[in-house]
Amino acid sequence: MTERTTENLPWVEKYRPTTLEDVYGQLDIVSTVKRFVHEGRLPHLLFYGPPGTGKTSTIIALAREIYGANYKSMVLELNASDDRGIDVVRNQIKNFASTRQIFSQGFKLIILDEADAMTSVAQNALRRIIEKYTKNTRFCILANYAHKLNPALLSRCTRFRFSPLSEDAIHERVKNVVIREHLSIQDDALHALLKLSKGDMRKALNVLQACKAASLSLDSNEKDEEITAEMIYECIGAPHPQDIETVLSSIMKDDWSTAYMILTKIKQMKGLALVDLLQGFVELLDGVELQPKTRIGILKGLAEIEYGISKGGDEKIQSTAVIGVVKSSMENEA
Ligand SMILES: Nc1ncnc2c1ncn2[C@@H]1O[C@H](COP(=O)(O)OP(=O)(O)O)[C@@H](O)[C@H]1O
Ligand SMILES: [Mg+2]
Repeated sequence: MTERTTENLPWVEKYRPTTLEDVYGQLDIVSTVKRFVHEGRLPHLLFYGPPGTGKTSTIIALAREIYGANYKSMVLELNASDDRGIDVVRNQIKNFASTRQIFSQGFKLIILDEADAMTSVAQNALRRIIEKYTKNTRFCILANYAHKLNPALLSRCTRFRFSPLSEDAIHERVKNVVIREHLSIQDDALHALLKLSKGDMRKALNVLQACKAASLSLDSNEKDEEITAEMIYECIGAPHPQDIETVLSSIMKDDWSTAYMILTKIKQMKGLALVDLLQGFVELLDGVELQPKTRIGILKGLAEIEYGISKGGDEKIQSTAVIGVVKSSMENEA
């Protein structure tokens, strides 16, 4: 690809692994699957696990490695969440699996992405399709949740769970991108990025790209801004730890109206929803010394409020409830 065409690509595409060596943090899976290939006994595969952990990237890199220049004729990529029904899938698979292999022997590969989006009727049909074409094709099924797949389908595949990536694995990849994109990023910003991505490489790259856009200097003579932790929190839409601490300690120590004012002010200024703050409170409370009874009271109360919000509870009433829960539990401490 030329510089011009890659320039407009989202980084998750621009930096999609092209070989298995570029897949980070999934060494065991990569080496096992490679061994299957080299021993010539590739089973049907199921890759499952949370988004952004390299499922799609791994199977595509593997297929490239196996088929090289014959990729197009030997690999069929289908996305099951395309709203087209099993009949279309069946026909595509049928056409693909029954055309003659001119260039090479061996199995053709059918990649079925996001298979857990399929209805159970479709999954049943798929099971029969797999059986029918097992002679000359291998399937690789990709899904977020194995439990959403039909057990009969599961039992026909060798399963690999893709875990959330370690911060080290994300760090490795992000380091490359930082160099190749000439970014300057502060240490604590990098640290926040790794932590907030929660093992999701897609998220890490998307946030980094958004921060890069935010840091661009309008004046071409000036250097772009350095990426700061503030920018990372803003792009992710997560509250800054400092803000969480300010709000929580105000609720604990100040009088009611001051606490309410600070809570609403920070929510407004930072464009946060109450539920973002709640998550932060719970994490922060881990490190605060409290009597067990107080802690239980607060956590139980916050959990109820979080549930209330998810049911569409009024933001203002829920905000006051947060203050009420914390303050009334804190009475134990006195
Ligand atoms: N293990 C990984 N190693 C390197 N890059 C990864 C990895 N996992 C995800 N990525 C990056 O995130 C993007 C999305 O990955 P993808 O393989 O589509 O994830 P999934 O299919 O698990 O949701 C890829 O384009 C790639 O840039
Ligand atoms: Mg995927």
